[in-house]
Amino acid sequence: PQPGPLTAPVMGWNSWNRFGCNIDENLIKATADAMVSTGLRDSGYTYVDIDDCWMAATRDSQGRLQPDPVRFPGGIAAIATYVHARGLKLGIYSSAGTATCQGLPASLDHEVTDAQTWASWGVDLLKYDNCNNQGRPALERYKAMGDALKATGRQIVYSLCNWGNDEPWIFGPNVGGSSWRTTDDINASWGSITSILDQQAGLEPFARKGFYNDPDMLEVGNGSLTQDENIAHFSLWALLSAPLLLGNDLRSVSSATLNILRNPDVIAVNRDWAGSQGRRVADTGDQEVWAKPMSDGSVAVALFNRGGGTATVATTAAALGLGGSSSYSTKNLWTGATATTTGALSASVPSHGVAMYRVTRAGTLSAAPAAGTYQVSDLS
Ligand code: DGJ
Repeated sequence: PQPGPLTAPVMGWNSWNRFGCNIDENLIKATADAMVSTGLRDSGYTYVDIDDCWMAATRDSQGRLQPDPVRFPGGIAAIATYVHARGLKLGIYSSAGTATCQGLPASLDHEVTDAQTWASWGVDLLKYDNCNNQGRPALERYKAMGDALKATGRQIVYSLCNWGNDEPWIFGPNVGGSSWRTTDDINASWGSITSILDQQAGLEPFARKGFYNDPDMLEVGNGSLTQDENIAHFSLWALLSAPLLLGNDLRSVSSATLNILRNPDVIAVNRDWAGSQGRRVADTGDQEVWAKPMSDGSVAVALFNRGGGTATVATTAAALGLGGSSSYSTKNLWTGATATTTGALSASVPSHGVAMYRVTRAGTLSAAPAAGTYQVSDLS
């Protein structure tokens, strides 16, 4: 079968943000087990992705990539079997260059061999990095791997890690990519999260169902991010229709972190597609309103406070493109509280926090809504 477009962004876990090169098969298996026991798999996180540093320093006698004999003595196929037995999928990593970012063998000019190797192991996803690319055109490099993955006949999700350098949002869908990185690497700091967020503006038109902008993997639960910062990061990445790839240590995940990662209402915002990813619709200094249209006609909203102290953040149903009704129902997606309003929506939001809602028309319509789904982009 040819890899078909995804119906929603990938959800899973990736080793890089928390572990870097400090990975081995025990970590990957224990993480797979934790994804089951914590309920994360059942919340939708199904991909277990091994990032850089899984491969040995040299190819084998037949020119194939081989796993590091110390870190992965049992081989990658055995890990694929292990995660598949738990209802999970396995992701692997390489670079569209002569070496990975950590200097290990990579796949430029070895695309067919490497794609076949991964398919034979039972791999379900490839993250394809951009290091050591020899200055060769990105389209050519990423297309060669996309074609090689397709030719294996195995469904392998193709995740482009081009960091936005070569406008991968333009060529990504044409080479079989399901998502493309838009920025340099995230780190577990508030400054990194807000900087990446700001770089998403303008990329909204390139996302469509099955093809997503990737603002990089989650740092929820890493570093010294506060609970409010973790909630804001997760809420905004969900609204952006981003791949939701966990980057923390799931073997010791706290219940506070799990409560963020498993929030079904916020995950539902990520999975839904009504024609547009979320975007910033209002910006008054440190207070911002982010919104994403939902396919049931409601709008998902994050009232976001970037400032250093608690602040009131407000919007209206009309400003969200939901005018024309005498009343609206709201659900706070982090507290579960429901309310009705004639149109005003506001919350006292902690520093570096969000209040997130679904807003739905609930009253008598004073005017017939225009045909079709309301989109936030209709606002202008
Ligand atoms: C750069 C990527 O952007 C990161 O996500 C990670 O894959 C590293 N390379 C690995 O070396």
